[in-house]
Amino acid sequence: MEELKGVPVEEWEKRTRYCGDLRSADVGDEVVLNGWVQTRRDHGGVIFIDLRDISGLVQVVFNPEVSPEAHAVARSLRSEYVVSCRGMVRARPPEAVNPRLPTGEVEIMAERVAVVSASQTPPFEIEGGGEADETLRLRYRYLDLRRCEQRDALILRSRVTKEVRDFLAARGFLEIETPMLTKSTPEGARDFVVPSRLQPGKFYALPQSPQLFKQLLMVAGMERYYQIARCFRDEDLRADRQPEFTQIDLEMSFVEPEDVMGLMDEMFAHLFRELLGVELNPPFPRLEWREAMDRYGTDRPDTRWGMEIEDFSGLYAATACKVFRSALEGGGRIRGFKVAGMRDPARRELDDLVAEAQRLGGGGLVWMVREGDEIRSPVAKFLEPREVEGTLRAAELQEGEVLVVAAGGDEVNPVLSGMRSYCARLHPVEAERFSFVWVTRFPLFEWDDEEKRYKSNHHPFTAPSRECLEFLEERPLEATSDSYDLVLNGVELGGGSVRIHRPELQERVFRILGLREEEVEEKFGFLLEAFRYGPPPHGGIAFGLDRLVMIMAGRESIREVIAFPKTQSGADPLTGAPDLVYQEQLKELRLRPL
Ligand code: AMO
Repeated sequence: MEELKGVPVEEWEKRTRYCGDLRSADVGDEVVLNGWVQTRRDHGGVIFIDLRDISGLVQVVFNPEVSPEAHAVARSLRSEYVVSCRGMVRARPPEAVNPRLPTGEVEIMAERVAVVSASQTPPFEIEGGGEADETLRLRYRYLDLRRCEQRDALILRSRVTKEVRDFLAARGFLEIETPMLTKSTPEGARDFVVPSRLQPGKFYALPQSPQLFKQLLMVAGMERYYQIARCFRDEDLRADRQPEFTQIDLEMSFVEPEDVMGLMDEMFAHLFRELLGVELNPPFPRLEWREAMDRYGTDRPDTRWGMEIEDFSGLYAATACKVFRSALEGGGRIRGFKVAGMRDPARRELDDLVAEAQRLGGGGLVWMVREGDEIRSPVAKFLEPREVEGTLRAAELQEGEVLVVAAGGDEVNPVLSGMRSYCARLHPVEAERFSFVWVTRFPLFEWDDEEKRYKSNHHPFTAPSRECLEFLEERPLEATSDSYDLVLNGVELGGGSVRIHRPELQERVFRILGLREEEVEEKFGFLLEAFRYGPPPHGGIAFGLDRLVMIMAGRESIREVIAFPKTQSGADPLTGAPDLVYQEQLKELRLRPL
C-alpha cells in the first residue's frame, strides 16, 4: 500500500443524490455525490472526472475559478479513488451534450471534494476491462464487478429472484430451506463430500439438488414449496455448468404435469414482461420427446428458427442409391432439412457443410442443390427421376436452394441437430429473441451398455406415463414418463416430473433398475419410509437460475452472471480455493494427507 500513503483522507459528506439519476430537471440543485473516480481528464486548467456509483456515471467539472481548493484536490485524484463531492447541477453546453449517457445533458460544477479512500492502480482498466484475461478478472473480481455490464447482470439476477419470490408467494408457495450437509441425492453427478469430525470416517454430501427434501415436504403437507437453492455437482465444467449453482426449485401436491407447466408458463411470461418488457406468448408449445428428436434431432431444440428436419425415407423405398439403401435396410431413415438463406452455393461452401458434419461425428452428409428440374449432388447419378422430383417437391426446394440429408438411425441426430445450429450461424435468419418450448414424456429408462443395466433417464422417483404401466417390465425402453423439460433458445433451462407416490410402483421401478433391496434401503430408505405415511400425489420442477439470467442478460456464459464463479478447472482465483488445509484439521477429521 506504499503508493497510497500521503493521500490526505478527509471527512466525507453523505450523498443527497445518486450520480446516474441526475437529469436536466435537476439543473440548479446543489447535490452531494459519493462514488468512484472512473476517469480524470485535465484540460489545462479545468479538470473533468467521471464519477461512478451503483446507479451510473455523471461528469464532474473542477474549475479553479469556482473553487481553487476543490480543483487542487482534483489534481491528486486517480482512477478508482473514492470521493465525496458537493456541487451544483448545471446544463452542459449544447456541443458538450453526450447522448450516449443517460446523464449526458448535465454536469456537476464542483464546490468541494474530499478523498474518502485511495486506490492502487487497478490491474486492468475498469471500463474496457472485459478485454482482460478472465483469470485476472476473477482474481480481482471486486474490480471486475465495478464494470457497468457486470453490475447490470447482478442487478438483473437480484430482480429475477425477487420477482420469482413475489410470484410464487402470491400463489401460496412457502420458501423453505433444506440442508446443505446431507446424504447423497439421486441427480446422477459426482458428489462433493464433507468429512464429519464428530463421526470420524463418515461424510456428508453437499446436495446436488433438494430433490428428496422437497418430496419429504410434500409428505409433510406443505403442499407448495419453493426455494432459491444452492446445488453442488462435481462434474466437468462448461459455459453453462458450474460446480456450485443455483436452482429455482419447486414442488406441488395434487398436481398433474399440465398444472406445473401451466403455472411456469405464467411465471416466465411475468418475469419477461416485468424485467425485460418482452411479451411472451404462453402457453409455450409442448413437444413430446420423440417428436423433438425427429423434428430437431435433440431434446434441447433451438426453436428460434425453422429448418425443421423432415423424413424423406418414403421416397427412397426402392432406391438404387447405396448410402440410402443400406441405411433403410439397417432400420434407419433418410432425414434432412433445407438450409435457410443458402442459394447457388459454391462447391467450397458445400464442402464446408460436409466437413462440419464430419466434425460433429457423422458418417456422411449428402447435399442436394436444385438446378432447374434436376439436382446437383454427389448422389445425383444414383437417383431415379421420380426420386429427384419427389424430393424437390417434398422439400419445397426452389432454384439454387440446398437440402442436406443424413441417412441412418438415431445416431445421426446429433449431426442433424448440430447442422441446424451451424447453418443458422452461417446465414443468420430472422429469429425470435426468446423461444420457449416444453419437451415432455422423456423415456423413463435408458440402457447403460457399460454396466449392462437400465438406468433412470432422470431420477428413480419419476412417474411412468399411465398407459405404460402395463408393459414396464416387458418393454422398459418403450416406457415414457410424466416428465417435462423447459428449453429456451436451445438451452435446457429446467426439468421436472410428477413423482411416483405409490410404494408398489416404486418397487417395480427399483426392480427394473436392478437395485437390490438393501441398496434401496441404504440410499432412499428414509424417503420410502415417509411414503408409508400418506404421501400426496406430487410433482415439481427446478430451473437453473444462472442459465436463465445468462439468457435474459444476453451473455454467453453463466460465469458472467455469478458474483464469484469458478474457473474451468473449478478454482477460485480470488480466494485460492480449493486449497490445502492444516495437518491438525486433517488429524481431527482422521484423514491422512496425500
Ligand atoms: P436437473 O438435474 O435437470 O433436475 O437440474 C435442473 C436444472 O438445473 C440446472 N443445472 C445446472 N446449472 C448450472 N451448472 C450445473 N452444473 C447445473 N446442473 C443443472 C439446469 C437444469 O435444467 N431435482 C431435479 C428437478 C426436479 O425433478 O424437480 C433436478 O435437479 O438448468
